[in-house]
Amino acid sequence: MATTLVGSLADVKQRIASREARVGIVGMGYVGLPLALLFSAERFRVTGFDIAADKVETLNTGGSYIVRILPEAIQEAQKSGFCATSDYSHIAGMDAVIICVPTPLNEYHEPDLSYVTGTIESIAPWIHEGQLIVLESTTYPGTTEEIVVPLLEKGNPHGIKVACAEGSGVHVAFSPEREDPGNDTVARHDIPKVVGGCGPAAVELASALYGSIFRRVVPVSSPAVAEMTKLLENIYRCVNIALVNELKQLCMRMGIDIHEVIDAAKTKPFGFQAFYPGPGLGGHCIPIDPFYLSWKAKEFDFRTRFIELAGEVNTKMPYFVIEQTADALNEHSKAIKGSKILVLGLAYKRDIDDLRESPSLTIIELLREKGAHVYYNDPYFAKVGRGRHYDLNMTNTPLDNLGQYDGVLIVTDHTTYDYEAIVEQSQLVIDTRNATKGIVSPKIVRC
Ligand SMILES: NC(=O)c1ccc[n+]([C@@H]2O[C@H](COP(=O)([O-])OP(=O)(O)OC[C@H]3O[C@@H](n4cnc5c(N)ncnc54)[C@H](O)[C@@H]3O)[C@@H](O)[C@H]2O)c1
Repeated sequence: MATTLVGSLADVKQRIASREARVGIVGMGYVGLPLALLFSAERFRVTGFDIAADKVETLNTGGSYIVRILPEAIQEAQKSGFCATSDYSHIAGMDAVIICVPTPLNEYHEPDLSYVTGTIESIAPWIHEGQLIVLESTTYPGTTEEIVVPLLEKGNPHGIKVACAEGSGVHVAFSPEREDPGNDTVARHDIPKVVGGCGPAAVELASALYGSIFRRVVPVSSPAVAEMTKLLENIYRCVNIALVNELKQLCMRMGIDIHEVIDAAKTKPFGFQAFYPGPGLGGHCIPIDPFYLSWKAKEFDFRTRFIELAGEVNTKMPYFVIEQTADALNEHSKAIKGSKILVLGLAYKRDIDDLRESPSLTIIELLREKGAHVYYNDPYFAKVGRGRHYDLNMTNTPLDNLGQYDGVLIVTDHTTYDYEAIVEQSQLVIDTRNATKGIVSPKIVRC
């Protein structure tokens, strides 16, 4: 068991400045692990907490389970003292604890905060005065103050309270993770860090901590403002993607190329941001986060109509892809039933190894229901078994002999694919991502 620290605000800030502060990160997933590496690169001693024993073991033996994080990066962090554990008693030795655990929806499409509450219950016995606890998991406004704070206070046997003004107690804040996986155009430390705390001391401490690894910290007046900021950003994306998905369907009927329209519209130097249509939403954020807000809105007798409409349009996109596939096969005098179809790309977006909520999973299930023989190719997934919403049991098919398939369906436009060669070798290509842009061939159906 680690030694318990006690520190005044000034002490902890000093320990952050001198890099003596110990940082604990709970949840070593797509968000928590890269964050741990950022702190390690800045010479902080970081402890990663995770309930998954295999992840803890991989990290402690210098390995990685996320494709874009190389084992060398973990080994480099180990030189600054990085290690992983499932033992929550080590929370006592941390100056700051950052929580990055999942926030999915349950089977009724309602927020599932069980990972957050489970984490708080586990860390509460080990918190100490002067410590900073930050929630980074995306959630509805009110979670930090209504759920995290009471659970921390209730679960602590020493009666430690949350410090709401400068003074004794544990400091609590919310700071959303704003990363865009696979987007290397903005370095993570260049993404401004929004911070809302329970009281000014929490904001000051969280700003000092994040200010040591992010170029800019944006303090806001409360955790609820920070929670809502993240949801606004993701709802904005969700609604705009739904808009272009709907306009794509209209454009197809009108014989207009939506991608040409978007390319022209985005030459406007102000007032327009380009969003692109696709086969449906995926990932752990955009398909899920908006419904955290629509659920919370009901408490205020408020209906979030934009969220519901966007959800409806985006959810129907895989079904639209199936209709288009059926029409394309029909042109070749074939039916979906009995056809051999190769799905290209399973990840929810290009060049990442993340399958969560990917529309490819729904598309494969729908094709199978209609009697197709479905295969897939994705360099990031050797096999696909069962998940929260799917049970596929498939293995990766090599990208050769493409002429054997009645249709090749591009669902994810990984940059490693040679689209010219794919079109050349295939009988029929159904392209849901405009990946074949610039290739002229009667074999291509863009939808
Ligand atoms: N992935 C993204 O791109 C992204 C971007 C912005 C925000 N977010 C948000 O960040 C949060 C985390 O997402 P993620 O993608 O990193 O999830 P993830 O599933 O990749 O990782 C979560 C990790 O938490 C661990 N875990 C679960 N319960 C735990 C517990 N009680 N104690 C310790 N560890 C526990 C899991 O084993 C897993 O390793 C979510 O709220 C998500 O919405 C994710």
